Amino acid sequence: MQLLKDRIRKDGKVGAGNVLKVDSFLNHQMDIQLFDQFGKEFKKRFADKEINKILTIEASGIGIACVVAQSFNVPVLFAKKTKTKNIAGEVYTSRVESFTHGRIYDIIVAKEFLGKGDKVLLIDDFLANGAALEGLIDLVKDSGAELVGAGIIIEKGFQGGGDRLREAGIRVESLAIVDSMDDEKGTIVFRGDE
Ligand code: G4P
Repeated sequence: MQLLKDRIRKDGKVGAGNVLKVDSFLNHQMDIQLFDQFGKEFKKRFADKEINKILTIEASGIGIACVVAQSFNVPVLFAKKTKTKNIAGEVYTSRVESFTHGRIYDIIVAKEFLGKGDKVLLIDDFLANGAALEGLIDLVKDSGAELVGAGIIIEKGFQGGGDRLREAGIRVESLAIVDSMDDEKGTIVFRGDE
């Protein structure tokens, strides 16, 4: 999505350790007009699919998913992160091991909000190694809902999570795929660019 790539080039900051900071418009301060364009783009890309629920994960995914959901006119469910394993029977739970942040946490959603008959689109801001997305996929599988695909705003292609999921047969649509970054020069190369 050219609009997003241009915005990343303009306002994104390449930090040490291959971290892309997009706090000014995506995951701290939020540009809602831009989010609305994301929604329209995902609606186009998934036009051939029936979707009746969007699932995301706290925290940064929630704002984006809410605006995107307006293009689909469906509810948004967000997985909650918890430090302690929730063994109550009323939730689906999955373990996420984040390499980026070097921590392990459980994510949960209440069984009453996800199940058979749901056709789920996953939405998240970043896809790096893919641990968070894999956790969400596990929740969907456990619930008996149908996984339609995943809509990602920025995929860090060089970390491989997206390609691994595609190879596993999951439809992953990313609006911008970063193939490489240079924190000294501040340059970013997107997949598909010359
Ligand atoms: P992982 O397997 O390496 O943990 O990667 P994953 O794709 O699951 O992403 C883990 C977390 O790291 C996500 O946030 C994601 O948004 C964030 N992240 C990864 N790379 C970058 C980056 O280059 N820039 C920014 N800004 N974030 C990045 P999270 O743990 O779900 O937390 P939250 O921010 O949603 O609260």
